[in-house]
Amino acid sequence: MKSIIIMATGALVIMGLLVVPACNGNGNDVPTEFDLTMAVSPATGGVTTPEAGTTRVAAGTTVNVDAQALGDYEFVDWSASPAVEFALGPNEPEGNSFTMPSSNVVVTANFAGPDVEWVPDGLITPGEYTDMQVYGDYEIHWATDEQYIYVGMRAETSGWVAVGFNATRGQGMANADMILGVVDGDDVIISDEFGTGRTTHRPDTELGGTDDILEYGGKEQGGFMTIEFKRALDTGDPYDAVLGEGTITIMWAFSDSKSLTDYHSANRGYGDITL
Ligand code: HEM
Repeated sequence: MKSIIIMATGALVIMGLLVVPACNGNGNDVPTEFDLTMAVSPATGGVTTPEAGTTRVAAGTTVNVDAQALGDYEFVDWSASPAVEFALGPNEPEGNSFTMPSSNVVVTANFAGPDVEWVPDGLITPGEYTDMQVYGDYEIHWATDEQYIYVGMRAETSGWVAVGFNATRGQGMANADMILGVVDGDDVIISDEFGTGRTTHRPDTELGGTDDILEYGGKEQGGFMTIEFKRALDTGDPYDAVLGEGTITIMWAFSDSKSLTDYHSANRGYGDITL
């Protein structure tokens, strides 16, 4: 009887019917399932399968994805953070798939609406940006043309929000091109800065560089802080990243404080975005 139970258990394991957490040899469980977050940008642009939201998926699973535009919107592409490889390439909305990585992943279906002019009014309007990524309570929206990048940052806070281009995972702010912004009463304050160390940064102008934010605006509304700005893809300032087509590592952060020198606590992280 005992050997029948052992044989039956062995067969279930071989058939993959028992989910046994992998073990790293130190007696610690290594997770085999991770969060898959499906997102739609802008939220009214379309629908996806699996639908927008977060589910747990085992690493190595082939995830089939479909995207369908709504109304006047058109599908633009898939983006993912961290990056994943889409079987049919990032521009195919239907019948596409990717392999679930050994980490949490956010997969976004990007749609474009009828052309909407970029206005730095602190409101992220449908069609104003072509791409977006969500990192917890922080989201970044962006669009580029031949000369400029347009960015909208939004977080659930009354303090500053920030992005750092050309970040290096594990290096914090070191050598990143950072933009911090906040709305304080009637003032919108924005600062073009550079990471002088893992936990330190200074305005480009104090380092001999230039302030290259061409237009900006912001709004604090409904518990959210939104900052929008425009800058040249290549500003010519050695303290700014030269941006162009391709995937770059960004870091994001937001704080409960309106002071641009106050710490962000745990509200920070890295991501990959494709321009
Ligand atoms: C405004 C003043 C800031 C202060 C005083 C500050 C301070 C620090 C400190 C002490 C750490 C190490 C502890 C930790 O991991 O939390 C850290 C890490 C980090 N900071 Fe900041 N920071 C500031 C602004 C920013 C900004 C604007 C960004 C993004 C644009 C940012 C992104 C990060 C990231 C991604 C890490 C994690 C580093 C790692 O663990 O690899 N920080 N910061």
